[in-house]
Amino acid sequence: MKAIPTPFQLQTLEDIEIKLLLEAISLRYGYDFREYAVAPLRRSISAAMTAEDVTTISAYQDRLLHDASSMQRLLSTVGVSVTSMFRDADTWRCLRDEVIPVLRTYPSVRIWSVGCATGEEVYSLAIVLKEEGLYDRASIYATDMNEDTLAIARVGACPIERLRTYEHDYLLAGGQSSLPNYFTTAGRIGRLNRGLLSNVTWAQHNLVTDASFNTFHLIVCTNVLIYFRPTLQQRAHRLFYESLVRSGFLALGQRESLIFAPESSRYHQVHDGVSVFRKVR
Ligand SMILES: C[S@@+](CC[C@H](N)C(=O)[O-])C[C@H]1O[C@@H](n2cnc3c(N)ncnc32)[C@H](O)[C@@H]1O
Repeated sequence: MKAIPTPFQLQTLEDIEIKLLLEAISLRYGYDFREYAVAPLRRSISAAMTAEDVTTISAYQDRLLHDASSMQRLLSTVGVSVTSMFRDADTWRCLRDEVIPVLRTYPSVRIWSVGCATGEEVYSLAIVLKEEGLYDRASIYATDMNEDTLAIARVGACPIERLRTYEHDYLLAGGQSSLPNYFTTAGRIGRLNRGLLSNVTWAQHNLVTDASFNTFHLIVCTNVLIYFRPTLQQRAHRLFYESLVRSGFLALGQRESLIFAPESSRYHQVHDGVSVFRKVR
């Protein structure tokens, strides 16, 4: 009679090596990727190995354990720091037309931009708040697990050619001026006007391991949860729910939803087809 394979036997050597690699990273650096979605995580590890010129996972583990700079490079690959200004124009339109008018009725507002990467989302937020007359009453907390991307974000710089490519989405999102008007140019680089960064606090925060640090009227977390498995999405959602004031708003990415949020029934969707939700209880 043929033996039934146990789950243990079903694991490939590569599965085992990746498990050990993630365990080693967690023990050495405290970054825990064990609940990240499998397919993108594998792609990131493979891309990082090619870039580091190592051919086996065990050799890569050795490199990571002994060379902190290789860990920092992996962080950017796993975190996928791709971003842009006014990404998902429908979301920004909804924030401008349906969320900000509510926030405007408050004496002051606290906003958390979670997984802000190199800052483009925060610059977009600052510009919309300015145009809607709310910037001076707003405090923006911009966080990411990756210190390197935060260091770039803090500078507020953006190549002029890239600004031009963002203009279309800015206008679709209801922009009232032109993006270059918010940047001072030096050569081919635009620097976001200082005033638009004065109400922003940048800080490292990891959704896997860190707790809530304030309460917020609006949390923007776009294109981060898609890289998490359901269990980790659940954790993040609990954190968001606890961190939102009653009647606060949560904006997710176009491909993200409340499907894994234990508190999904405690929100209502602000606009059909857009992942912006309001906490109702
Ligand atoms: C694809 S970018 C999204 C950037 C921006 N929110 C947007 O939509 O354009 C994902 C960001 O999430 C960050 N990230 C990934 N895992 C995280 C975690 N556990 N805690 C905090 N940030 C995380 C990454 O470092 C990266 O900057």
